[in-house]
Amino acid sequence: MITPLQPRTGLPDGYPFDYEREILLRDGRVIHIRPIVPGDAVLLAREMEEADTDTLYHRFFNPAIKLDSKRLRHLTELDYRRRFALAAFARGSGVAIARFEPAGGHRAEVAVVVKPEWRSAGLATALFALLEEAAIERGIEEFEALYLPDNHAIERVLHKRGFGDVTIDAGVARMTKRLGERPPVGMHGHDVG
Ligand SMILES: CC(C)(COP(=O)(O)OP(=O)(O)OC[C@H]1O[C@@H](n2cnc3c(N)ncnc32)[C@H](O)[C@@H]1OP(=O)(O)O)[C@@H](O)C(=O)NCCC(=O)NCCS
Repeated sequence: MITPLQPRTGLPDGYPFDYEREILLRDGRVIHIRPIVPGDAVLLAREMEEADTDTLYHRFFNPAIKLDSKRLRHLTELDYRRRFALAAFARGSGVAIARFEPAGGHRAEVAVVVKPEWRSAGLATALFALLEEAAIERGIEEFEALYLPDNHAIERVLHKRGFGDVTIDAGVARMTKRLGERPPVGMHGHDVG
C-alpha cells in the first residue's frame, strides 16, 4: 500500500515541505498532496501499467506509451525549482499527478492526470492552483499547456485557471497563462490544512 506521508529523513535536497497539503474536494472527499520523490518511481510504473488507453492518449498523446527506467527517473527525480511535481493521494492510493517542466526562458509547461473515479470534483483545478503558487515563488512567469483539441475537460480546467490564447499546431492545442493574474472563476477545491 502506498502511504501519502514521507519519512522525515532521506528526502531529496530541496524537498519543499510546504507543498504537503490536505484539500477538500467539492464532493467532500479529502485528498493529501505532497511533492513527488524518487521512491515514487515504483508507484508511477504501476499506475502507468494500469492506466486506460484514453487517459494515456490524452496525457502523453500516445495510448501505448511505456515508460523505461530512464524516463521514470526523469519524472520522479526533481530539483523542485525548474522541475516540480505533486502527487495526490486518497485512502492511501495515488489518485493524481501534476507537474511543470521548463519550456524555455521563464516559461514552464504544465501537465496533469487524474484517475477517472476522482474526476470532475475540482482536483486538477486545485493542483494547477498549487503549481501556480510554486511557479510564482520560483520566478516562472508563464505557463503553457499542450493538449489534444478534443480534451474538453482540460480545456475547462485551463479556462477556470485563467489560461487563454488557444493555438493549434500539428493537431496539438496550446493555451498559455501569464502567472500572477487572478483566474476569472474561483477554484473549487480549497485548502483545509
Ligand atoms: C483533464 C483532467 C486532468 C481533468 O481532471 P479533473 O480533476 O476532472 O478536473 P476538474 O474537476 O478540476 O475540472 C474538470 C472540469 O471539466 C468538466 N468536464 C469534464 N468532462 C468534460 C467534458 N467531456 N466536456 C466538458 N467539460 C467537462 C468538469 O465538469 C469540470 O468542470 P466544472 O468544475 O465546471 O464542473 C482529467 O480528465 C484527466 O486526467 N484526463 C486524462 C489526462 C489528461 O487529459 N491530461 C491533460 C493533458 S495535460
